[in-house]
Amino acid sequence: MRTFGLIGYPLSHSFSQKYFTEKFEREKITDAVYKLFPLKSINEFESLIKNNPDLLGLNVTIPYKEQIIPFLTELDETAKAVGAVNCIKIYRHSSLVPFTFTGYNTDVYGFSQSIKPFLESHHERALILGTGGASKAVEYCLKQIGLDTYKVSRTKNDSDTKKFTYSELNKNILNSFTLIVNTTPLGMYPNVDEMPPIPYEYLTPKHFLYDLVYNPEETAFIKMGKRMGSVTMNGLNMLHLQADKAWEIFCS
Ligand SMILES: NC(=O)c1ccc[n+]([C@@H]2O[C@H](COP(=O)([O-])OP(=O)(O)OC[C@H]3O[C@@H](n4cnc5c(N)ncnc54)[C@H](OP(=O)(O)O)[C@@H]3O)[C@@H](O)[C@H]2O)c1
Repeated sequence: MRTFGLIGYPLSHSFSQKYFTEKFEREKITDAVYKLFPLKSINEFESLIKNNPDLLGLNVTIPYKEQIIPFLTELDETAKAVGAVNCIKIYRHSSLVPFTFTGYNTDVYGFSQSIKPFLESHHERALILGTGGASKAVEYCLKQIGLDTYKVSRTKNDSDTKKFTYSELNKNILNSFTLIVNTTPLGMYPNVDEMPPIPYEYLTPKHFLYDLVYNPEETAFIKMGKRMGSVTMNGLNMLHLQADKAWEIFCS
């Protein structure tokens, strides 16, 4: 049986297995299965590959999108430019080198396709909350679309002039950044009451809040945006788009 799956830790929040299992049923793909592989450490990656000889493709989620890179044989152009991988095609060989891996980033496709139809001319500058693997894909997309992007982090880095800490955010900053993308796991199941610590009182109907988190469907971040009349979107469409792109890569 062709085996595909998801690595990350924890994986209780993920909809990927449900999405692929339903896709296989719908499209009558009977020779494939999609499994969850929670890895407590990325060092378990190689034994996972050795112990699962039918494994041909993996998706990668929090917290391994960057940590996985040293284990891969090569990266495609987009993954290299972004510096994060969320999709791995596994090649099995009957030679001295039994397997090789190519890393891709399908979050770029999922995020840009999902956000583009909803961007308006006043969305010129974006705050990206979080500085992990997904934030790199979001930054790459928004820059390609032509938006000015700043990151928001819990930690200060004086050499990075395009980065705020949460405590630096104020009315002026929120007035000039009308797109705010949450790429932190705050609010993700089971910690559904958490939300990024931004000054929500300065949000307006001109603001667009995009939450990469999709479980729960309406996060505390999205609820606060709605309360202020802002436009909101969760990460469910992005999840489906990046998964379909990953399937294309697995089957190519
Ligand atoms: N919808 C989709 O298709 C999709 C795709 C990709 C990711 N996601 C979701 O996006 C989230 C991030 O994924 P990722 O792979 O980028 O994870 P990651 O590499 O671990 O990065 C998460 C970042 O969030 C910030 N962060 C972590 N814990 C925090 C906390 N307690 N408070 C404030 N900030 C915190 C950190 O930035 P600082 O240290 O700089 O603060 C960290 O670098 C996850 O919930 C994931 O499920 C969804």
